[in-house]
Amino acid sequence: MRVRIDPSILAADFANLQSEIGRISTADLVHVDVMDNHFVPNLTLGLPVVESLQKVSPLPLDLHLMISDADRWAPVYAETGAYSVTFHAEAAADVVATARKLREIGARAGLAVKPGTDIDPYLELLPEFDMLLIMTVEPGFGGQSFMAEMMPKLSRASEAVKKSGLDVWLQVDGGISEKTIEIAAEAGADTFVAGSAVFGAENAAGQITLLRELAAK
Ligand code: DX5
Ligand code: ZN
Repeated sequence: MRVRIDPSILAADFANLQSEIGRISTADLVHVDVMDNHFVPNLTLGLPVVESLQKVSPLPLDLHLMISDADRWAPVYAETGAYSVTFHAEAAADVVATARKLREIGARAGLAVKPGTDIDPYLELLPEFDMLLIMTVEPGFGGQSFMAEMMPKLSRASEAVKKSGLDVWLQVDGGISEKTIEIAAEAGADTFVAGSAVFGAENAAGQITLLRELAAK
């Protein structure tokens, strides 16, 4: 299985984002959490910062949009040239139309679900997506505890992806660390977001390598 480690810059020093990205050279992608204080009770960064990161990041950007009115905004974020744009099912009126727009613009299309949202209704739409994100914390904040009770949902998604034969990535986000990554890998995740576990480490690049080894076991 190909393992992807995707550090979340939510746990990085926001005054020095370019050099913080320099600390994670062993990563596959850079996870960027966009929050609007409406869909989630927190505010992080928006288009101008994403545009600037897009210019300086040697790694592809994986945007996680925790914002309302995803139908309108997800394509605008894709226009920045981001490699991947993930929007929440709960925030979109038409998930298929939005995913198609993202792909037309040239971004990978990701669909995220909060812990309380069922994934099953979306599994028949797999051909429309390049990635599913199963949240393992309530979206909004870094540093929360991993919700192991999401593993059955992740396993169902993993079985559906295998059955489809499609190359849809399965991402987990929230509370991923050296203590939890194996549980998520076992349940079928292949793409792992880690914020505090990576940026909180003195040697962030080494920590990524360790996480990758644990997930690949
Ligand atoms: C939470 C964000 C996550 C967060 C993860 O809403 O979507 O990406 O940064 O942080 P950790 O890894 O610290 O749980
Ligand atoms: Zn995230």
